Amino acid sequence: MLGDAVAYRFGLDDGAVEGPGPRVNILGSAPINATRLVRLLGDWLGTGDTLYEQLAERIRQLARTGTIPAGTRLPSERSLGTALGISRNTVARAFDELRAEGVLASRTGDGTYVVAGARNLVPDDDRLGSFASLADGAGQRIDLRSAALPGLRMTADEIGSLDELRVRDLVASHGYLPAGLPELRAAIASYYDDLGLPTEPEQILVTSGAQQALRLVASLHVAPGSVVAIEEPSFRGAIHSLRALGARLVGIPTGPSGLDVDALATTLARVRPVLLVLQSTVHNPTGSVTDSLHRSRIAGLATRFGVPVVANSTLADTVIDGDRTPLPLAAGSDLVITIGSMSKLFWGGLRVGWARAHPDLVERLTALKGGEDLGTSVIAQVIAARLLGRVEEARDERRAILEKARRCVLDAVAALLPGWEPHVPAGGASLWVRLPTVSATAFAQRADRDGVRVLPGPTFSAFEGFDDHLRIAFSGPNDLTLRGIELLAGTWAGFVDG
Ligand SMILES: Cc1ncc(COP(=O)(O)O)c(C=O)c1O
Repeated sequence: MLGDAVAYRFGLDDGAVEGPGPRVNILGSAPINATRLVRLLGDWLGTGDTLYEQLAERIRQLARTGTIPAGTRLPSERSLGTALGISRNTVARAFDELRAEGVLASRTGDGTYVVAGARNLVPDDDRLGSFASLADGAGQRIDLRSAALPGLRMTADEIGSLDELRVRDLVASHGYLPAGLPELRAAIASYYDDLGLPTEPEQILVTSGAQQALRLVASLHVAPGSVVAIEEPSFRGAIHSLRALGARLVGIPTGPSGLDVDALATTLARVRPVLLVLQSTVHNPTGSVTDSLHRSRIAGLATRFGVPVVANSTLADTVIDGDRTPLPLAAGSDLVITIGSMSKLFWGGLRVGWARAHPDLVERLTALKGGEDLGTSVIAQVIAARLLGRVEEARDERRAILEKARRCVLDAVAALLPGWEPHVPAGGASLWVRLPTVSATAFAQRADRDGVRVLPGPTFSAFEGFDDHLRIAFSGPNDLTLRGIELLAGTWAGFVDG
């Protein structure tokens, strides 16, 4: 017979728990560990109430919305306290209050569970908070969590100079184009031609950002229980989309020169995933760019094992060092599906991205997208097509901005935080840094209370790993980034001293 703990973990059975008042039945579900709970807590610190009341309120809210479903076993008071950088007593008081209200219940020797609330009503997307503006409220806190860049001036110019006749023409049609505006599909195809990857417009599906492209491609390949290989660390949005589809993730280590190709070969031979998801041209969060030798080895392995690859190239136009237009991975294998975006070069607010794949796959993806949103905004696509005509100029501008911002953040870290080990990013707008032997989750919590926000490493891990890393975004004005690093240095001095 299965023990209680096992039954809870896999949700196989009902369990009765001790709560206030009558005994309550809760359904079992996976336990949540401290670093993950900290991520879900997100912006739990407000103003006014005591720490324990603020913590209790946020947990109450997460239970009410079903973000932490009923039946979830919470981490111990001690481990949550450590991860939050607060005392165990504070967590204990919050838990006591929630137990008294019947939101939580404890079973002797078996921890604390969520009782009240809904089951899985909302996806547990813990990223949305990180799109907050750089300095929140009265400018009290500096937010270095989001690496999303402000749009280039040329984006505003193109929006402002939309030709009235052209718009009238467009508005005279019905405007539903699930596969995308033909002129944009052609512009994206020639963007790839120019990168040395011959492409026909029929190979392009226009999407509402790379995020939608990722999700559509994943949903065509992944069924509940499917094994998917993904870089470790990786982009949180990909982890979320895959998890939401029920994928079982297997991690492939990735570092300064990109994916560990030997580890990839072993994994492909052993588990035959239905999909491999990676970022070879500017990796989020490490900022690395895979060199051409590694690229051809990865493409060769994909072909040899017959594994489709999602090459998420959202950040491809933000290369700072070396060849800024490396040959896309798809040049090495027909099994590679390339995902791209206007977001990082021109502006995220356009919400225009794409998938490049075999025309048959594009047709299936188009049917899926049509069922989802009937097509991306035509106006945004007209602007995107015009902007792609200025891609060279935009790359020059982006590179100059990023190079300066990177120098600013690297100099500041070297001067103020000499024990930290930054990985110099070859592209993108964030710095992946290794901290000497502390919990980055706990440190980020402490820094938040000191007025600066950064993302701890486990945010980018499918396995709650990298708690010795932080990601510091440098997408905002350099003086704010600098001020943020100064605040981090202040927190660090207090943190390592005790
Ligand atoms: C690696 C990566 N992929 C995809 C996205 C989402 O891009 P889009 O704005 O095109 O949906 C982001 C945005 O942060 C990203 O960093």
